[in-house]
Amino acid sequence: MADLVEQAKKKASYAAIDEHINANTHVIGIGSGSTVVYCVERLAQRFKSEPGLKIRACIPTSFQANQLILEAGLPLAELNAHPVIDVTFDGADEIDASLNCIKGGGGCHLQEKLVAAASKKFVVVADYRKESTALGIQWTKGIPVEVIPMAYVTIQKKIQGLGPCVTDSGNLILDVFLGVLTGDAAVTDAHLKLITIPGVVETGLFIGMAGWAYLGAADGSVKTLT
Ligand code: 5RP
Repeated sequence: MADLVEQAKKKASYAAIDEHINANTHVIGIGSGSTVVYCVERLAQRFKSEPGLKIRACIPTSFQANQLILEAGLPLAELNAHPVIDVTFDGADEIDASLNCIKGGGGCHLQEKLVAAASKKFVVVADYRKESTALGIQWTKGIPVEVIPMAYVTIQKKIQGLGPCVTDSGNLILDVFLGVLTGDAAVTDAHLKLITIPGVVETGLFIGMAGWAYLGAADGSVKTLT
């Protein structure tokens, strides 16, 4: 089982990199989590073996991504130095048929969303366990919500969030249970309900951001959603 999942993550990541990285891709966003490790692995292989690739900057979404880029020998840079990103690759905790995602299981969704929002293309890579007909079915740990530490108890009371844990940005994450979110309107309503609370910095609901999803299957194939 564990091997099948790892194989699925790797196949999905390699397919995504091979389809979206070419001589015109110069600035690349690097997401966070265990699947993205394979994206960086494949990117580094191609960076070192294809002189035609002109990768100028890789923008991290977390301390983990920062380290992955450095260790792979890829060019690390800040979002402020490269505010327009050609393509970002990132994992997801759950993805629905409209490519809406729950992210933030690793507590990185604020920086992930900032990088995704600055990207011309946002590509999700995941294994078969993440695909869902409605958000909240597969991922049952709640929607990660990043909040300002000063207000976390007040917010926790309002939204009955579990937590907290500390993020790379020095904020706190609360996990909020809103049940199954069926359809775009329900996902949007859930995001708006949370984001309008003073002290909430960002939610883990990524709505309409992903243009592609590569989902590795247990049989070694890769399913593409667009
Ligand atoms: C971190 C994330 C990750 O991308 C998400 O949790 C998926 O991780 P993995 O690839 O390990 O399943 O959103 O904030």
